[in-house]
Formats: sequence, C-alpha cells, structure tokens
Amino acid sequence: MAENILSIDTVALDEEKNALKIIDQTKLPGKVEILYLTKQEAIYEAIYLLKVRGAPAIGVAAAIGVYLAAREINESGYDGFYGKFKKAKEYLASSRPTAVNLFWALDRMEKVVLDHKGETPAKLKELLHDEAVTIREEDIWVCKSIGEYGLGLIKNGDGILTHCNAGQLATTRYGTALAPIHLGREKGMNFKVFCDETRPLLQGARLSSFEMVAAGVDTTVICDNMASMVMKNGWIKACFVGCDRVAANGDAANKIGTSGVAILAKHYGIPFYVCAPTSTIDMSIKEGSDIVIEERKPEEVTEMWYKERMAPAGVKVFNPAFDVTDNGLITAIVTEFGIARAPYTESFKTIFAKKANAGQA
Ligand code: MRU
Repeated sequence: MAENILSIDTVALDEEKNALKIIDQTKLPGKVEILYLTKQEAIYEAIYLLKVRGAPAIGVAAAIGVYLAAREINESGYDGFYGKFKKAKEYLASSRPTAVNLFWALDRMEKVVLDHKGETPAKLKELLHDEAVTIREEDIWVCKSIGEYGLGLIKNGDGILTHCNAGQLATTRYGTALAPIHLGREKGMNFKVFCDETRPLLQGARLSSFEMVAAGVDTTVICDNMASMVMKNGWIKACFVGCDRVAANGDAANKIGTSGVAILAKHYGIPFYVCAPTSTIDMSIKEGSDIVIEERKPEEVTEMWYKERMAPAGVKVFNPAFDVTDNGLITAIVTEFGIARAPYTESFKTIFAKKANAGQA
C-alpha cells in the first residue's frame, strides 16, 4: 500500500546525505517524489518553482539551504566566511518576494553568525546547523498551537472552506489553516472541508484536498467561482486561510483569490479566520499596500494543466500570486500565542508580549 502523504516529511535536513529533503509538490497528487537537494541553484529553483511552498515551509527550506551553503565555504577566517555566507543568504532570499518567513528564517540564520563574531568557521557551521534544526522543530510546535486555538473556534461536523494550501504540505507538520482540522481528526472529530481549487496553480485541488482525503476528512473540491454558492447554501460555518505576510494593521497577503473569499464571507455573515505564525507578522510593514506582491509567468494562466493553450497567442495576462485581504474583512488572526482581533495594532502587542515572555525573540 502507498505510504500516507501525511507520514512523509514536507521539508527536512537529511543528515546523512547533507541535503535538503522535500516532497516535490509540483508532482502531487499524481506522484509522490522525494528530492534530496544539495546545490544552491537546485534549492533556489525548488522554492521558485513551488516544489517546496507555503510560507513556513519556504522559511524552513531556506534555513536548511543556507546552512548547506555555509558547509561548503572554505574560508579559515570569520570575515571571509561571513562575506560568503551573506552572498548565499541574499541569493536564496531572491527566490520569492512575498512570504516574509523566507526573510525571517534567513535573518535568524545570519544573526547566529553576527552574534558569534570572531568564531571559527567550523564552530559557525555547527551553530548554523543547530539553528536550522531548531527553526524546523519550532515550526511543528507553532502549527500545533495554532491548530489548538483554531479548533476552539469550530464544532464537530462544521463545514469549513479553505483557499490554497495552508496545510501540512505548506509547513513541517499540521499546517496553519488546516491544523485545526488535523488536530480535530486526532481527537476523533470530523469536518466537511471545501477546498477552493485555487487557480492558477491548483494548490487547493492538488494539495489541500489530497492531504484532507489522506487524513480521512470529508472533502469536496470546488472551483474558485463556486465559493459563493456553497456559502449561500449554508454549507460553510467558517473560512480558514493561511497567509504569507501580515502587516502591522492586520491586512493579510495570501494566495490570489483570498480577498474575494473574505468579501463573500462577510456578505453571508460567515467568520473568516487567517492563521498566521508570529513569524508571518511583519511589524515593519504598516499596511497591506506596502507588501510586495509576486507576479508570475503568463503561461501558468494560459497553458499549465491544459492539453493545449487556452488563450489566444499575444493576449495580455495578469498573474499576481497573492492578494491582500483588508483587516476589516478578517474576523480574527489565529497565532501560536493566541487569537488576535481588531484593532490588530493593539492585539499584536499582546501576542508579541506573550512571545517575549516565552523567551522567544
Ligand atoms: O504560492 P504558494 O503556494 O507558496 O502560496 C501559499 C499560500 O498562499 C499559503 O496560504 C501561505 O503561504 C500560508 S502556508 C501555511
């Protein structure tokens, strides 16, 4: 029998092979292929092409990636080592622009080097290894905690709509938006999950529904333009989505189409929850309009998944990968340190104070 996708690590460091180990998500659900990446170009490409994707998983992959780059640095002094480390960090940071976890994880890795100025490269490599492993392990705790807070917002049997994939495949384990569903399953609960297919890259159809079915959840895939109907039918009790970057005022960037779901949810009086590790909250960005939105290739819209091109040659294509949901459309933001509600500028202070009390920067 084929191995359940949920028992395979989404992203990990393979200590024997000294490689970044990922599930190639571009092949799912048809084929479960594990990749072992050692070269920086291959790690960059895996992030850019969404072989590894989802904000927390990208952060973990980058942390492991930059550690692997550091291992290869042949410098005997601190300054030479740091110069090369910085270059490797900048290279991986340029793979995707919107998910702040990428920069957050790489900055954490750089801080290790800066906090140990003057150390030998051998010692720095050891410290970087430990930090990458810690970032990955923390992600599991963070997601579990988000799942527990999120589970408190729903009841057994509820219909839940989700957009894109903010599940285990987007993190190390559990996911963010799908963590309440996974934890609920562990406690014997079940939900009716509706996965928006999520054009153009189909993360909902290919990934969320795959992992929900694997978890034994009652799962229905819908095209993005069917969300209004299922909400009107009364089938949805709550929407749960992930996010790539939250501004200080609570505006949240997530997969393109998320803001439309939030507008519909408001119209039908359905709570709309954004699940966000604190590493996804970017307090340096005042509001959503300041978040850089990645634009991707036109072929993803016109050709990908089709047997033949489905738009005339020469037509203009607009393909933003994310949109920003205004804070006013968000019922609450679920973090690992509790549930934040408007005004977010205030509630985030409480969340970050709890994080500091827990000894986390
Ligand atoms: O382009 P992707 O597939 O990386 O986009 C992913 C999303 O938009 C997720 O919802 C977000 O990163 C949160 S993952 C827990």
